[in-house]
Amino acid sequence: MTALITSFVNPKGGSGKTVAAVNLAAGIADLSYKVLLIDLDAHASASLALGLKKDPLPSLAGALIADDELYDFIEQSANTNLDVIKGSDDLVAVQVALYNQKEGLLTLKRKIDDLKKIYDYIFIDCPSSFDVLTLNALCASHAFIVPLPCEYYSTSALSTVVEYVNSLEEKGVCHASLAGILRFYGSNGVSVLNEIQNEVVKIFRKNVFKTIIPEDKCLDESIILGQPLVTNMPESSAAKAFKKLCAEFIYKSPFWLRFD
Ligand SMILES: Nc1ncnc2c1ncn2[C@@H]1O[C@H](COP(=O)(O)OP(=O)(O)O)[C@@H](O)[C@H]1O
Ligand SMILES: [Mg+2]
Repeated sequence: MTALITSFVNPKGGSGKTVAAVNLAAGIADLSYKVLLIDLDAHASASLALGLKKDPLPSLAGALIADDELYDFIEQSANTNLDVIKGSDDLVAVQVALYNQKEGLLTLKRKIDDLKKIYDYIFIDCPSSFDVLTLNALCASHAFIVPLPCEYYSTSALSTVVEYVNSLEEKGVCHASLAGILRFYGSNGVSVLNEIQNEVVKIFRKNVFKTIIPEDKCLDESIILGQPLVTNMPESSAAKAFKKLCAEFIYKSPFWLRFD
């Protein structure tokens, strides 16, 4: 077995990276696949959304700049088949050290290699910036997902993501494919935003997931409870959409794995 590694990337905060990462990971684990979610954000929102508390050291950040194995930082979540490597505050501080490391963009890729045999799917929840952690995630990934809420700044960030990935590809350090743009629909009723999203669909066509995640108040409730919506409130509208997204993602995943 070799895991398909997928990052959730959008430099705009609040674009839905964590919500998508947590629910896709939990939804796929619920289908009996072995899944690891790596929380690469110092805010540790994905860890908290799975009911896990932030720890004092030692942490993932330390593992990235020391000789430690990532394996030692894996924790089981309350969801069967879903393991987590938690985020921690010091992920912010570790960035300068990563920059100064020889081949520092490839640190996570090297460290993650041993875990590929243990899991079917590894998901990486990235911070809301194009920092060295996000670049590490992209270099370690086969594929990346760009969550796209019906909101202007996140949409304009999409071209930045694509440009960054292209520049990493030109340097020969990144081979991640755009798995898909994941649309979130809001109820703001601003038609110009809907038009912008429709333009995105026209431009990216096959690289847009068919499934759209609807606005759903249950999502906040599930975050507060520390349980993924997709397994905690499976009848809610967003949970149903996430389950469809899981099926769509699994169906397409052999294509991205070809490039391993
Ligand atoms: N489909 C949705 N329905 C309602 N609220 C949502 C939905 N998707 C995201 N949100 C809200 O947006 C917030 C930010 O999402 P999050 O995934 O944390 O963004 P990011 O990780 O990109 O910063 C969440 O806390 C949640 O309250
Ligand atoms: Mg987040």
